[in-house]
Amino acid sequence: MSYGFVRRLLFRMDAEEAHDFAVEYMQRLQAIGIVTRGIARATRPDEALARTVWGLRFRSPFGIAAGFDKNARLMPMLAALGFGFIEVGTVTLEPQEGNPRPRLFRYPEAKAVINRMGFNNDGARVVASRIERWRESADLQPPLFVNVGKNRDVPLAAAADSYASCYSIVAKHADVAVLNLSSPNTPSLRDLQKPEHLEKLLATMASVRFGRQPLLVKIAPDLDDTQLAEICAVCTNFADGIICTNTTVDRLPGMNEAGGLSGRPLLSKSSSVLARVRKLVGPAFPLVGVGGVFTAADVRTKFEAGADLVQSYTGFIYEGPWMAARIARELARN
Ligand code: FNR
Repeated sequence: MSYGFVRRLLFRMDAEEAHDFAVEYMQRLQAIGIVTRGIARATRPDEALARTVWGLRFRSPFGIAAGFDKNARLMPMLAALGFGFIEVGTVTLEPQEGNPRPRLFRYPEAKAVINRMGFNNDGARVVASRIERWRESADLQPPLFVNVGKNRDVPLAAAADSYASCYSIVAKHADVAVLNLSSPNTPSLRDLQKPEHLEKLLATMASVRFGRQPLLVKIAPDLDDTQLAEICAVCTNFADGIICTNTTVDRLPGMNEAGGLSGRPLLSKSSSVLARVRKLVGPAFPLVGVGGVFTAADVRTKFEAGADLVQSYTGFIYEGPWMAARIARELARN
């Protein structure tokens, strides 16, 4: 069945119901080992795409961005579909419901989405136990990034401790940890990008970090050059990479929902932030490019802007389950 047909059905449902339906379906399929293994065989990326970052081997530089698998339920299926790495989360220390529904809105003409989910997730303990079970399985295990945030009711002054506690529980079995400082849907979260808060946060993280596990910072696209320079100065000293970028608070005409905008309209803005960050951090500091990637050409745009690795979320909604395999095939062609 082509995704065009499935997408028409999914797009007639409320956006979050469609997401839940797809997750449920993927979970059922991945429970059948022979199916997951069959898909994995069919999508295996060309060896030429492999690369090593932070000493970790990536079969493909294209991964699934945070937010799709917030609760670490779909790692086997996402790996089988050909994603070269998987970012789960955002996870918070305590479970939380997130904002009231509806909180996810599609704009198909613009190939965009607005979300104000507000970190709905099962909390660090539950997610940690799922990751642990996966680690013990024989499943294909591409590098796993775990994205950490703070609960809505944690004030800025207590944020560093909250990130550190969450990290200590959930990131033990991760390959890479990500501090999400850029969701527009948790009040004051983006203030953590200010250098005084960022330095304190990274100092606190240093005291709980698992060995030399890479620690990344995920930033917003809505930052000016001064803010970017400050963030880069702190990150090159105290972090191992930057993810550029989260959703934007910008809007196209006719988009009136509150939240963060992602997808096609974010491609040029997030790529421009990525390029500016690359200039600021120099050639050797690893960067992950995300925002508006739908095709192999978009992945190349991110590489040209300075990305070592690339992710997508909204593109997956529009392009469907074979997106990673298709991109890998096209990237391998030249
Ligand atoms: C997200 N994104 C996100 N990012 C993050 O760090 N933690 C999260 O929990 C979420 N949640 C989330 C939910 C939904 C519904 C969307 C659409 C996005 C942001 C995502 O990882 C990515 O940075 C942006 O969406 C930009 O990339 P795309 O979607 O344009 O490929």
